[in-house]
Amino acid sequence: MDILSNISLKQYNTFGIDVKAKHFVSVKNIEELISVLKLEDYPEKFILGGGSNMLHTKNVEALVIHLDIKNIEIISETENSVTIKATAGENWHDFVLWCLEHDFGGIENLSLIPGNVGAAPIQNIGAYGVELKDVFVACEALHIKSLSIKTFTKEDCNFDYRNSVFKQDLKGEYIIINITLKLTTKDHQLKTSYGAITEELNKMNIKNPTIQDVSKAVIAIRESKLPNPKVIGNSGSFFKNPIVSKSHFDTLKINFPKIPSYSVSENKIKIPAGWLIEHLGFKGKRFGNYGVHENQALVLVNYDDAKGEDIFKLSQLIQSTVKRIFDINLEVEVNII
Ligand code: EPU
Repeated sequence: MDILSNISLKQYNTFGIDVKAKHFVSVKNIEELISVLKLEDYPEKFILGGGSNMLHTKNVEALVIHLDIKNIEIISETENSVTIKATAGENWHDFVLWCLEHDFGGIENLSLIPGNVGAAPIQNIGAYGVELKDVFVACEALHIKSLSIKTFTKEDCNFDYRNSVFKQDLKGEYIIINITLKLTTKDHQLKTSYGAITEELNKMNIKNPTIQDVSKAVIAIRESKLPNPKVIGNSGSFFKNPIVSKSHFDTLKINFPKIPSYSVSENKIKIPAGWLIEHLGFKGKRFGNYGVHENQALVLVNYDDAKGEDIFKLSQLIQSTVKRIFDINLEVEVNII
């Protein structure tokens, strides 16, 4: 394990922001991770996974620990299902592809989500009608202070829309080291009701889709709407879709009759933030080397060497405009560092 100094983090965050880490080390297993966490010469430490859900606004004055711990293993199998453990450093999409190759179903709708396995439970990744919690069994996490490993069941994780205990009460206290999922091996339960998936499968002329077909459809939709971080820096949805009260929504509907919505409960309505941002004219707006993506207004992008601070300021401008026009507080989904 080499501890490097003054390292650019550009290739370690999907936004492609060129900030520096004061010190940097990659760890390949738990033992290395624990020994690095014990180093007293580096009191400040910063854990880096896939870098897919963060916006760097300044240099990181700490020892950045890059989790490069990779392994996928089948724990047990029954007639219809399989239990799989994958470690934090596995790339999420590569893991999805591995499952598809083995014909394991349940996460095909989560194809092409950037980032690593370790980040998946933190924000309960979700797309096209499926969330990680639907297949999640447990995860193991290292307590940073005591260096002890704890198992969290699905209930312990307190999953919610883009949320978990690791973003709330236990924020910054644990490092996820692996996750265990239960997937199907036959009679796969396809989730194709999300409008765009049905449309895409029709376009592909597929009547009886397999999990591999659903994955292909999801990939096609994502590629048409979302920028590939390898080409244009971004962190996926920058904001969460806001949830408002029914009475608030009824008032908005009077002034904005076309506003889309999804019912969450009797008195709660979710509104696509992308629509709000587009309606304000931000979609596709470019400010030099950064801006709002042209096909999905929820995504802020770095065209080339943008400063994280500028993208952060743009996000604040969007938030204050949404507040002024719709009286809605848009919450940021990405971690601002
Ligand atoms: N919309 C617009 N303009 C836009 C974007 C969206 O008007 O520029 C409206 C349209 O009415 C559209 C609706 O929003 O029908 C929904 O759009 P979309 O299907 O693209 O989904 P989303 O709600 O904008 C969420 C997730 C995405 C996920 C998709 C599909 C959040 C914050 N984002 O976006 O997740 O891929 O659903 O399930 O929940 C991510 O988390 O990084 C991410 C990309």
